Amino acid sequence: MTDFLRLAEDIAREAGEMLLAKRPTMSEEVETKSSPTDVVTALDKASEELIRERILAARPGDRILGEEGGEEPGASDVRWIVDPIDGTVNFLYGLPDWAVSIAVEVGGRVVAGVVNVVPRGEVFTAALGEGAHLGGERLRCNTGVPLAQALVATGFGYAKDRRAAQGRVVAEVLPRVRDIRRGGSCAVDLCSLAAGRVDAYYERGVNHWDFAAAGLVATESGARLGGLHGRPVSPEFALCAAPGLFDELHDLLAPLDPERDA
Ligand code: IPD
Ligand code: CA
Ligand code: CA
Repeated sequence: MTDFLRLAEDIAREAGEMLLAKRPTMSEEVETKSSPTDVVTALDKASEELIRERILAARPGDRILGEEGGEEPGASDVRWIVDPIDGTVNFLYGLPDWAVSIAVEVGGRVVAGVVNVVPRGEVFTAALGEGAHLGGERLRCNTGVPLAQALVATGFGYAKDRRAAQGRVVAEVLPRVRDIRRGGSCAVDLCSLAAGRVDAYYERGVNHWDFAAAGLVATESGARLGGLHGRPVSPEFALCAAPGLFDELHDLLAPLDPERDA
């Protein structure tokens, strides 16, 4: 596990340095993916290529799932899950919440995760059963926070119907919590939760590469990560908080049917 973590961290740091050195300007050409607001820059692709090359050089045969390049088949039961830039819109606008996210899954279970929040110079790491760390400090999420005092991070998808539905849900949550934060990176949101910078996080439509690494950081900090009605976290729904708050937020969200898109 330590070897996986060390390799993931080295690669996430190298990709981060490359991205910082080549940081774009708003005039850079961007392509769009699922909707006009879902952008991908040449640097998203370059970052993923670098990460794939480094993984395969060190561990030929491992499988890789990356946001930009899809699934690389292989015989190994080790799968690397990569978001080469989580928070691409922040990256484009020069906002500081974007990250390189790399997780290692063995037999379908995430065992190591690294989230390099490059502009902040913060590298979050976690290994299954061994805790979550930032700069040598063990992370523990906030506990004992009642829903009415919770600072809740969330995010919105790229499709306009989904966003409209998410807006209706957040309108119901906002008067019942301390406040809402929309940081722009699922991975950073979950690491912020682990570091006690927010109390809870929920979002519909985030993918495995968004939450694989940071989800382990959050759970290793003491948080619970899951879906609605006892289901595991998935692109359908992600909810994360310390156990008591998880239940309170779940019970507020579930009747609002936050998995609907219209
Ligand atoms: C996005 C970010 C954002 C979340 C979106 C994701 P990307 O990832 O994590 O916070 O709200 O759902 O797609 O596109 O910047 O890699
Ligand atoms: Ca992402
Ligand atoms: Ca991405």
